[in-house]
Amino acid sequence: MERTCLAVILAAGDSTRMKSSKSKVLHPVAGRPMIAHVVEAVASAGISSVALVVGRDAEEVAKAASIDGVGIESYLQKDRLGTGHAVLAARDAIAKGYDDILVTYGDVPLQTDGPLKAARQGLADGSDIVVIGFHTDRPTGYGRLLVKDGELIAIREEKDATDAERTVTWCNSGLMAINGRKALDLLSRIGNSNAKGEFYLTDLVEIARSLGGRVTAVDAPEIEMTGCNNRAELAVIERFWQERRRREMMLAGVTMIAPETVFLSYDTIIGQDALIEPNVVFGPGAVIDSGAVIHAFSHIEGAHVSEGATVGPFARLRPGADLANGSKVGNFCEVKNGRIGEGAKVNHLTYIGDAVVGAGSNIGAGTITCNYDGVNKSETVIGENAFIGSNSSLVAPVKIGDGAYVGSGSVITADVPADALALGRARQEIKPERAKLLRERALAIKAAKKAKA
Ligand code: UD1
Ligand code: CA
Repeated sequence: MERTCLAVILAAGDSTRMKSSKSKVLHPVAGRPMIAHVVEAVASAGISSVALVVGRDAEEVAKAASIDGVGIESYLQKDRLGTGHAVLAARDAIAKGYDDILVTYGDVPLQTDGPLKAARQGLADGSDIVVIGFHTDRPTGYGRLLVKDGELIAIREEKDATDAERTVTWCNSGLMAINGRKALDLLSRIGNSNAKGEFYLTDLVEIARSLGGRVTAVDAPEIEMTGCNNRAELAVIERFWQERRRREMMLAGVTMIAPETVFLSYDTIIGQDALIEPNVVFGPGAVIDSGAVIHAFSHIEGAHVSEGATVGPFARLRPGADLANGSKVGNFCEVKNGRIGEGAKVNHLTYIGDAVVGAGSNIGAGTITCNYDGVNKSETVIGENAFIGSNSSLVAPVKIGDGAYVGSGSVITADVPADALALGRARQEIKPERAKLLRERALAIKAAKKAKA
């Protein structure tokens, strides 16, 4: 039978060092609140439900934490009396009876299911407590794992440690697994007679041992256990997240010429053999199919780029942009809520918004779909194999039929039938010698002014 598991995520800290008007776990990593990354990690570790311990911004944090398919209940920790006290805020959840309790922090967004699963395995193998530790060159501030004869005997907080204990470089990540059948009894025995006067969750190690229980530790990569306390650490976490995901993508067959300049969102999807040139930024909701090419300096969000389509350089795809196979959106073009049909070309300096461009159509340089009248948005529908001359304004709502032509510089306010030519501009006039005349007149005025002075 599979073991049941409750994850208790501690997120009641007041985030003082973030110097922020909102809880730190709401700050995004790769475009998604930190707390959602943590929920994702515990979900992959096979948990049955999540108890979220919240303090400030309780409602926003609970909302940010909710991801599809994971049941979450929030518990308010009113006073912040330490990590042991925080876990007990979820007493009612723990009391429901689980085989495993996983305790983790909401401000450790790089954690993955690997160490969490290893800790659960430790419980399955008979430990009452399994601590997730990490090795570091800079242990200052962390609780130290004290090991004797191969057994974890205690976790000593920095403030309570002797000089000798402070030289230990194996540290407590704060994450741990607890035997769910014993958890409430063990937690209720935690006291607060220590340097900070707090209820230390870490005391569970000695408590469990004193009752004859087994306590072990597993190791996790230091970077995954990095907590976020201030904006500088947030930037370090973001950088690592980006590096890790780019590498995964490249190993899955995506080419990135200068990966360190490509920024991904938590949900960016890029297919095999797609080419991503330098300095490309993906906002949330971007899906790039196999073999698509994203040229340099493009910004893509909420958009779908099909196989063999090309984007940029310097293109912006906004939510609802959908590029069909082999289509092209070139430099200084913006597409929002617009479908670009198969093989259609939007090559230069164009805005396509709330529009459909049919297959094989060519949109000339500087074409603008005028989709907004200051109040309402309207749609422009361009048929297949149409040709829109450069510098045209298509005033929506308007339809351009299949195979129609629009003359350059036109302002199109009425529908254009299929195969028709539409000209919406003043007719050109030629006035022979008139330029020369104007020039002579101007020179004469200038000379008269000079004589007067
Ligand atoms: C804790 C550990 C320490 C470990 C370190 C790793 C204890 C006593 N110490 O120390 O061994 O090396 O984490 O970063 O557990 N929180 C609450 N409510 C509280 C207190 C904390 O929700 O009353 C949450 C915080 O928001 C944070 C986490 O618990 O996410 C850790 O709290 P923090 O005060 O940062 O613990 P440390 O003293 O750093
Ligand atoms: Ca901390």
